[in-house]
Amino acid sequence: MKIVFYSSGKKLQPWLDSLSANLPTADIWAWTPQCASRQADYAVVWAPPAELFSHQKNLKAVFNIGAGADRVLRIPNSDKLLSGVPVVRLNDAGMAVQMAEYVCHALFRHTREFAAYEAHQRGQHWKTLPALDRANWPVGVMGLGAIGARVAEAVAGFDYPVHGWSRTPKVLAGITTYAGAGQFDAFLAATRMLVCVLPLTSATEGILNANTFGKLVPNGYLINVARGEHLVDEDLLLALAKGNLAGATLDVFRDEPLSAGHAFWDHPKITLTPHIAAITLVAQSAAQITQKIIALESGEKIEGVVLRDRGY
Ligand code: NAP
Ligand code: GLV
Repeated sequence: MKIVFYSSGKKLQPWLDSLSANLPTADIWAWTPQCASRQADYAVVWAPPAELFSHQKNLKAVFNIGAGADRVLRIPNSDKLLSGVPVVRLNDAGMAVQMAEYVCHALFRHTREFAAYEAHQRGQHWKTLPALDRANWPVGVMGLGAIGARVAEAVAGFDYPVHGWSRTPKVLAGITTYAGAGQFDAFLAATRMLVCVLPLTSATEGILNANTFGKLVPNGYLINVARGEHLVDEDLLLALAKGNLAGATLDVFRDEPLSAGHAFWDHPKITLTPHIAAITLVAQSAAQITQKIIALESGEKIEGVVLRDRGY
């Protein structure tokens, strides 16, 4: 079996070692333009160049080493280049718990006013702020998939009112759910802390915009851990300036790394991190991909195949 590996921004050797340990008889190599014509059965990739696919003739599947496959699907001409080739994303693989942890941290930091307490410490003030009334902090989670459902359940575990929105109807214990465009406004009207865990598709691009922010419970707050392209940057800056939103925690950006001098860097109401909300774990991800390759080789169906018409 032949496997070509490509990763933009992730360390190469741990992946090659982990895949080789799981598939000891496989011939596995890192893609370079010089070996572009070397034919593989499978590609394991993160943010690959189009050129990787334009020379491949025998691919049986492309494994995206992330939950969101947008960096593969958005390659120009990907429909043609990957016609008939399944694109497979990671299902959780240890990311859901990290994301639940990150979102809970951002939520608590804001609702429990930890930034204010840190400022008090710096000024050596011993001061108690009012206790939290969770009823005043309804949380709305956009996307209830492998990761979003875990986030919603984790937040509900701390007794916040939790609302969840997905494309198709879902039943989740302790969470009020909404589905489809028709119930989006009702979801927003019930939400103060808005958390985005959606995949990036033509239907969700730019969904975090002025119109969306304007429908939230007053004094709302945004946590975006999905993709930078979900957010209209200027609309966030305006909502913060007008006081329509109290603040935002952002892990993802339209251009990564975030450009020097971008208004988000030193905005007093924005907390940001460099796309680390849920880091792809090499051992767990390589094990999941290996299981799927073995299943495909035995003619079995696998989970996580992206449906091109819905975009995720
Ligand atoms: P997933 O299992 O595919 O779940 C996607 C969820 O979004 C599903 O509930 C789906 O609805 C919903 N959805 C999709 N399109 C929608 C629409 N138009 N309207 C309403 N709901 C819609 O994906 P996942 O594994 O949870 O990952 C979600 C995203 O998190 C990834 O795509 C990626 O962008 C992001 N992510 C970020 C990081 C990070 O470090 N920042 C790490 C991992 C993942 P249905 O349930 O009805 O299908
Ligand atoms: C990371 O952003 C992922 O999609 O896994």
